Amino acid sequence: MKAMVLGVGAVGSVTAEILANSEEFDKVILADVNLERASRAEKKISNDKVSVKRVDASDVEGMTKAFKGIDLILNGVIPRFNLKIMEACLGAGSHYADMAWDVALDTTPAGGVIKQTPAWNQLKMDDAFKKAGLTAMMGLGCDPGLSNIFARQAADNLDRVKQILVRDGDNGTVEGHKFAPLWSPETLIEEVLMPATYFKNGQYMKLPPFSGKEIFEFPEPVGDLSIYNVDHEESETLPTFIGEVLGKGCDYCDFKIALDDTYVEAIQMIGMLGLSNPNKVDVKGTKVSPRDVVAACLPDPSTLGEGAKGDCAVGTLTKGVKDGQEVSYFIWIQMSHEKTFRKYGHSATAYTVGVPLAIGSILFARGLVPQKGVFPPEMLDPAPWPEMLKKYGMPVHTLKQVKY
Ligand SMILES: NC(=O)c1ccc[n+]([C@@H]2O[C@H](COP(=O)([O-])OP(=O)(O)OC[C@H]3O[C@@H](n4cnc5c(N)ncnc54)[C@H](OP(=O)(O)O)[C@@H]3O)[C@@H](O)[C@H]2O)c1
Repeated sequence: MKAMVLGVGAVGSVTAEILANSEEFDKVILADVNLERASRAEKKISNDKVSVKRVDASDVEGMTKAFKGIDLILNGVIPRFNLKIMEACLGAGSHYADMAWDVALDTTPAGGVIKQTPAWNQLKMDDAFKKAGLTAMMGLGCDPGLSNIFARQAADNLDRVKQILVRDGDNGTVEGHKFAPLWSPETLIEEVLMPATYFKNGQYMKLPPFSGKEIFEFPEPVGDLSIYNVDHEESETLPTFIGEVLGKGCDYCDFKIALDDTYVEAIQMIGMLGLSNPNKVDVKGTKVSPRDVVAACLPDPSTLGEGAKGDCAVGTLTKGVKDGQEVSYFIWIQMSHEKTFRKYGHSATAYTVGVPLAIGSILFARGLVPQKGVFPPEMLDPAPWPEMLKKYGMPVHTLKQVKY
């Protein structure tokens, strides 16, 4: 099978390396608007199956031409381009997968009820993909991605689901930097400053940014961390797909991420000064986006792996009922930044996101993702995942509690 990874940044380069070393793929094209970056990744992967190509994710016509003859397109650019890449996949007859979607497209204020979550911008292409006999896997990274699959795994073991809580914790630091996000800083700033989507009483609603602060006990060595409501993909699809499509119900769903005080202060300051604005402003005759300037001033996430210390843990706590008893499952993965870099040459953040996309691609190539159309990760069969994750050094842990 032939794959193209479009956007060979921190995460895309992890996926590309795994596919190049897998027997399921005989050709892996590294495509990026920045050919130098793609060539760097090609050199690092050093495998005859790999080649590079300049492709611009904002140019549908150019992508349609570039995708012709490629079985699977893996989207590693920022989510702003998803719809265009999907359109090009339909034009070229290629299957598609991404790791995130554009949650920023919804502008419902805090306290408001969302008419339709941004996930549906892509989900509404379901018919077109089905008609073309094509598969489009959405949000197949770590969170979203594994977090959704873990919710599905728990739901399969419950008669009824009551709550799905996704929790992302990282006590990592980067040597020499006080504020250095380990993945797309634009996305981090955007997600954290926006009202956060949650689901309650059958409705998708918004909470204020930085709300819901609490201490969550992440498994050791991550430990206790302060977590906050943050806008994220999981709370846009899990209630509908686990609750309605799979018929397990879901009364409540939210996503919280750990942010240390320095990050909270820095991001609040960026927001307060208007530096999170993605639109161009005039600076002495030059038009620039303040958020692009902030991102350009921060270190490139793909270069930070070596200096990252500490551990991360991402898990889903699913509470429900089985045989009349209240049961909860906390299913998670955890990784050490230092060990991951030493063993795989990538930061744990990039590695834990790039591996699920690669596993989804390998399962797809093996015919284990038979679905056509557009769907989120909770619609994948969770059965092969724990073994595959273990193979790539990401063992899955499960804590089952009865009568929580
Ligand atoms: N699901 C999860 O758990 C999870 C976690 C983290 C990240 N993500 C998602 O993963 C994706 C990649 O993140 P990342 O950290 O790898 O980002 P990144 O390091 O910034 O990589 C993005 C790559 O896309 C390239 N690019 C930008 N504009 C392009 C265009 N118009 N055409 C082609 N290529 C273009 C960038 O080139 P330049 O550097 O030249 O701009 C860069 O090489 C993002 O969508 C992010 O939201 C998902």
